[in-house]
Amino acid sequence: MIDKINDLKAQAKEKLSNATHSMDIENIRVEFLGKKGKIIEILKDLKNVEASKRKEVATLANNLKNQLEEAIENKKEEIKNKEYEKKINSAKKIDLTVPSNLNIGSLHPITIVQKELEEIFESMGFTVEDGNEVETEYNNFEAVNVPKHHPARDMQDTFWLENGQLLKTQTSAAQNKIMLKYGTPLKAIFPGRCFRNEELDASHENTFFQMEGMMIDKDVSIANLIYFMKTLLSQIFKKDVEVRLRPGYFPFVEPGFELDIKCLYCGGEGCKVCKHGGWIELCPCGMIHPNVLKMGGINPEEYSGFAFGLGLSRLAMMKYGINDLRVLNSCDLRSLKQMDIK
Ligand code: DAH
Repeated sequence: MIDKINDLKAQAKEKLSNATHSMDIENIRVEFLGKKGKIIEILKDLKNVEASKRKEVATLANNLKNQLEEAIENKKEEIKNKEYEKKINSAKKIDLTVPSNLNIGSLHPITIVQKELEEIFESMGFTVEDGNEVETEYNNFEAVNVPKHHPARDMQDTFWLENGQLLKTQTSAAQNKIMLKYGTPLKAIFPGRCFRNEELDASHENTFFQMEGMMIDKDVSIANLIYFMKTLLSQIFKKDVEVRLRPGYFPFVEPGFELDIKCLYCGGEGCKVCKHGGWIELCPCGMIHPNVLKMGGINPEEYSGFAFGLGLSRLAMMKYGINDLRVLNSCDLRSLKQMDIK
């Protein structure tokens, strides 16, 4: 009988250690501790055991019963915890703070591009500044070297307020204020909404977004400008982007450039997007004109700097394959849905 009890103990131990499901545990319990279970049978059989051994056998059988009950409870708990963990890990994560039954929107493509750019520039030591949408004529034009009656004003017709102020035509309008506020050395970007009195078509809107940037310090050169632009564009398009500079005229920079990137759609071979030229004009830029530095209280003999005016709307269009600028201001959720924006 003692051998039988030891044997049962070994059997139960092995079965328990192999058990992986709650059901296995229940089967083991029934097999050993159930009404017709193996241990109960032994206890029932005690009457047939020799009287001198009966106490020893009874103690052993009872001990086994108690040990097994405890082991089964422990194993049950262990398996339950494992099953729970598995359930949690495989279940979709649920955010209980999200309101239910809402057709949830997404950030606007321009906001996404703007945030991405801000992060990249911040990682390169630039601060992010705000500009006004309503500006003085001085800030928008004179302070960036576009005096009254300068022909460059013709390209930037805008909306005038009765008090003589205007809706800013370019983010460059904040250059002067930022220079006066921070002095040198200066590394800042300032994104913003711009307005022009335009004839609307697929590439012209009366409202669009730019991101201006300036870096002013001793010995800043065109090499710095190219480096920053290339790093930035490669990060935003998540691949190595080829850039080139062409001469461009803007009254607030000297020399001024048009920065082009190799067409990301055709790789430079020529397609509809790049109008078969292989390059896309993306970012006018240049070395800040000495007059602009002077008006910003900075000595051009001592300091130099670059400035650029990235077309945020254009960048978003390129990134999301949008071919009509008007889509961006249309507030039409269907277009956002097509862009696979999360
Ligand atoms: N403000 C110009 C525009 O809207 C863009 C621009 C050109 C900005 C050259 C710059 C620059 O900072 O250096 O057309």
